[in-house]
Amino acid sequence: MNKSSYLHMNKYISDSLFDIVSDIAYESGVRAYVIGGYVRDSILGRKNSKKDIDVVVTGSGITFAKKVAAAISPKIRVSIFKNFGTAMFAVQGKEIEFVGARKESYERGSRKPFVENGSLEDDQNRRDFTINAMAISLNRDDYGKLIDPFKGIKDLKEKIIRTPCDPLQTFSDDPLRMMRAIRFSSQLGFRIHRETYNSIKHNRDRISIVSFERISDEVNKILLSHSPSRGFIMLAETGLLDKILPELTNMKGIEIKDNKGHKDNFYHTLQVLDNVRQKSDNIWLLWSALLHDIAKPVTKKYIEGSGWTFHGHEYVGSKMVPSIFRRLKLPLNEKMRYVQKLVSLHLRPVTLSKETVTDSAVRRLLFEAGNDIDDLMILCEADITSKNEQKVRQYIQNFRLVRKKLEEIEEKDRIRNFQPPVDGNEIIRLFGLKPGKEVGFLKDSIKEAILDGIIPNEYEAARDYLIKKAAEIGLKPIK
Ligand code: CTP
Repeated sequence: MNKSSYLHMNKYISDSLFDIVSDIAYESGVRAYVIGGYVRDSILGRKNSKKDIDVVVTGSGITFAKKVAAAISPKIRVSIFKNFGTAMFAVQGKEIEFVGARKESYERGSRKPFVENGSLEDDQNRRDFTINAMAISLNRDDYGKLIDPFKGIKDLKEKIIRTPCDPLQTFSDDPLRMMRAIRFSSQLGFRIHRETYNSIKHNRDRISIVSFERISDEVNKILLSHSPSRGFIMLAETGLLDKILPELTNMKGIEIKDNKGHKDNFYHTLQVLDNVRQKSDNIWLLWSALLHDIAKPVTKKYIEGSGWTFHGHEYVGSKMVPSIFRRLKLPLNEKMRYVQKLVSLHLRPVTLSKETVTDSAVRRLLFEAGNDIDDLMILCEADITSKNEQKVRQYIQNFRLVRKKLEEIEEKDRIRNFQPPVDGNEIIRLFGLKPGKEVGFLKDSIKEAILDGIIPNEYEAARDYLIKKAAEIGLKPIK
């Protein structure tokens, strides 16, 4: 082929790193190509996306990686994954992974591949999507040449996600790719080609052989995409959501009785999610948005005369979070407790804004939400999805009032990181008590008095109040 007749991608491989890879390939008599996400994101001009570089070589990826690392610096530590025939190292804030070009096929019922050596073409054939199968040559004779057998560049331009081969083959090779298709579509704003999309619907049951760690990684990426609702709608439509988060699909639909309907809680949730995403990229806040109404189906009741109620759904919902997190292999630590807290508190600011906003109600909310109060307010404001403009205006105005009150009280009483000014040990010493019920009672009395505004959040006032309260149960200070 005449050099000028192919697409040159030199500007994407101008880093000196690629020159080194090129030299080593030449010296070792192998061919090397940069491939996959790096090529896709470079052409798309995506920001912050050039950290990981995948290089495919004809021959052993491990041997090649060691040679390149040694040529850059003897200090570089190469991580080797023998089972996968890959090796990687980090340099200049980038991670480069090397892999030998392979022909791969998978055992049915598992995603452990049999790996055989192959050509670049074999390797491109076994990749997930046309836009991820493009390679740029790092070889001296055609340095910078785009090798794009499946017209990935056209799909990039037309914003299409499509498998390079029969989607049935691609998805049965690795069913996680069904999630990846939806994730890329959501992240990039691309549409999934009809044949590929239909194949996801057909193959959805095969997602069951994929580990929840990998599934949740994709769900997290969908949550962080610009408008996550897009991804969740596709997950629901293809039937994948039923397999991974049936609690969410359970929220779909509207029931009508006596001419009274409730909103479709699934689409409401997705709107809340998009609203939160506009304000935040905190993944746990996004999970809180996704799960905030999760208990609506199980708490739904129709009450004659007043209509649909979901009484206690915030509390029941927060209790459902651990089993969902366990199933999805999400962390069962303070991140999960944060999500539980936000789910359980998500109605509080709304309730507050409907009543006259008393100081003590604001203090209690600040005490329970602690440092997460700002995130809770983002969630609550996002939860206003009414179509009634006047209602929305009213809510927003009330929330402004709640926020103002929150600031005033916080400044005055410092409740956010509340620690009672007199602690249990001091109570024990003061009255010569043994640890037990009375200490708890007295400690609680101080907390309640501060939250109710009976005393300020200060040591002297708390100590005086404590002595008074102790006298009521017949206790006196021992000195
Ligand atoms: N790949 C694949 N099938 C998978 C995972 C990955 O074919 N299930 C291929 C694709 O060619 C992909 C490349 O491996 O481009 C690198 O995968 P990965 O790093 O997971 O994804 P990226 O495409 O780089 O995208 P991102 O970093 O956004 O996950």
